[in-house]
Amino acid sequence: MKGFTVLDKDRPLKMYENRAGIFKLLINNEDLELFESNIYPGKSIICQPYESINSTNIIFLLEGKLFHTNERKFVNTGDILFFKDLDVTHHLSVVKQTRLLMVRNSKHFIEQASTTDRIYEMIHQIQEKDQYTEDHSNNTGNLAVQIATMMKLSEKKIQNILLAGKIHDVGKLNIPIEIINKPGKLTVEEFEIVKKHSQYGYDIVMKEIGKNEIAKIVLDHHERLDGSGYPNNLQGDEISIEARIMAVADSYDAMISSRPYKEPISVKDAIEDLRRNVGTWYDKDVVASLVEIINFTKDVNL
Ligand SMILES: [Fe+2]
Repeated sequence: MKGFTVLDKDRPLKMYENRAGIFKLLINNEDLELFESNIYPGKSIICQPYESINSTNIIFLLEGKLFHTNERKFVNTGDILFFKDLDVTHHLSVVKQTRLLMVRNSKHFIEQASTTDRIYEMIHQIQEKDQYTEDHSNNTGNLAVQIATMMKLSEKKIQNILLAGKIHDVGKLNIPIEIINKPGKLTVEEFEIVKKHSQYGYDIVMKEIGKNEIAKIVLDHHERLDGSGYPNNLQGDEISIEARIMAVADSYDAMISSRPYKEPISVKDAIEDLRRNVGTWYDKDVVASLVEIINFTKDVNL
């Protein structure tokens, strides 16, 4: 029968799995794509606006629970989200393991892909270097976007944070892997080498993308409000809100992750650590927004 197909959900056109979940491409033609996705708790779904008109994205939640950061509302099993001609980035955080169907007009995603190809290539290079840096980069980028969304930053800043977050440690491509993954404490000399990744990252982003507003976030993500950070010992207002958000997202994800040289600490302990350093290292409003996010999306009360 012409024009009619019954899809076998167990035989997708494409399937891939990563740390965020399992994604199956079921339909892909000129007009639209249909995905079935299984996404793990703690991961994010980010829907970005596109310049062209008629961009549509529909999400049907088959099972699970999401938190829509923009509206501070939960999305539950059976709910349908309809995005059309967005003007701002939407952030959805996966609270409980979620299975969903996503329909979107693919043309816009192809256009979008071409503008960020270099970013994805860099992420891929990071991934080849070590898995932790890739996971950490994704988590930090997604969390930074969520905090920025909570804080209602401008769309331009959110877009920059999204890209900067995913490549904030790209400078580690120039640091020997033995130092990055060294079990145990780094020597003073080794730490001096690691500290160079901020400047290396800035140089790489400027060379590859040429956008100072993104490169600057990468450069400043280890600066601290009291001037004790690196590489330029910036203080207070010299550190942009984008870099302050990145600093908190980066530190938080590093604390709750396990590394060859340390065990993860609990969400509660990580927040306690951030709170202890509010004002000296971290921005008060950024930490407060992170606490609000955790209270909404995790099973802890802070
Ligand atoms: Fe870093």
